[in-house]
Amino acid sequence: MSITKMSDLDLKGKRVLIREDLNVPIKNGEITSDLRIRAALPTIKQALKAGGKVMIMSHLGRPTEGIYEEIFSLAPVAKRLSQLLKMEVPLIQDWLNGVSMGTAAIVLLENVRFHEGEAANNTALAKKMAELCDVFVMDAFATSHRAEASTHGIIAYAPCACAGPLLVSEIEALKKIMSKPAHPVVAIVGGSKVSTKLALLDSLSQKVDCLIVGGGIANTFLAAEGYTVGKSLYEPDLIDEAERLNLAAKKRGASIALPSDVIVAEKLSNEAESYVRLVSQVDDNEKIYDIGPDTIKELASIIKKAKTILWNGPVGAFEIEQFAKGTHAIAKAISESRAFKVAGGGDTLAAIEKYRIASKINYISTGGGAFLNFLEGKPLAAIQALEQRSLKDEKIT
Ligand code: 3PG
Repeated sequence: MSITKMSDLDLKGKRVLIREDLNVPIKNGEITSDLRIRAALPTIKQALKAGGKVMIMSHLGRPTEGIYEEIFSLAPVAKRLSQLLKMEVPLIQDWLNGVSMGTAAIVLLENVRFHEGEAANNTALAKKMAELCDVFVMDAFATSHRAEASTHGIIAYAPCACAGPLLVSEIEALKKIMSKPAHPVVAIVGGSKVSTKLALLDSLSQKVDCLIVGGGIANTFLAAEGYTVGKSLYEPDLIDEAERLNLAAKKRGASIALPSDVIVAEKLSNEAESYVRLVSQVDDNEKIYDIGPDTIKELASIIKKAKTILWNGPVGAFEIEQFAKGTHAIAKAISESRAFKVAGGGDTLAAIEKYRIASKINYISTGGGAFLNFLEGKPLAAIQALEQRSLKDEKIT
């Protein structure tokens, strides 16, 4: 189904309200990764260039609705956005009853989640937001799985609603990797728990040629193979699921790649004594924190042969230097591969930034939950709303 795009519309002189996801990590008032702000810049610049009077709205964190708390203010984002755009971006506190832009070409509206009814997709709130603009642009791919007033409700009531360039490019890149990918397709799924990524593992194990599992997820798969994982994080309740996924992958000629050796220690610290162990030799008191050197070689060779790579999640506790070698090596192998490469998810983005490989990845998704939902094959609420709106507008014209 087609969706009206921002590039299809004449924005000259129009009040253009753009929903971005500028939900960036902030520590002591400082932004620690501005990736999402930078990803929104092309859309913002395009709207400004087209002569729109641009209002940006976003959420930050999960404040209690109706209560202003400084830690959830978009003030640091306004500052960073001003630096990146090389123009002043005023932060508007009270905007729901109308925005006076004065001489400003662009303003940032304070955190949408300070308003009661945002999460519940309240109709009255969505209508008030819609009244602020002539054109509403939904560009926040990373929040497109949420049916909230500013991502979903507003789409039905805005005088005109469309998808922004970032949202469109995210969907196109992900569709490319999921619909007709070049084979072999290798997915690397790391992270601590099978339970949080079961739907993703299920969906990918039906599509990829090799699924590399890492982190705590790999531990559950190792336990399913009968290995002792000591005191490592794993989920005994999901051993049956791990077996089922393994069998299903084998049945269709695919594989789930597990570590053959690992790095173990008794605690997660740079000072802890750590050892390389075969997976058959992990002691009862030990915890697995990374993949070992043989596994690094095996996985690098699988990655080298891939024509399509999807990366979500680290393969070890890479925030601690002595357990970072596995994730670093995977990042390096991915960056050197000539495959079409897509990556996404919070920890993955942190690893990409840490190892400075962003320029070597074809598409880095800004989404966390939205990225996973898309790969799991779940519909994204905001995209559905845009499709319905486009269909309605088509019938009227
Ligand atoms: C994210 O960080 O995944 C998005 O900004 C959505 O945030 P939320 O999970 O708080 O809705």
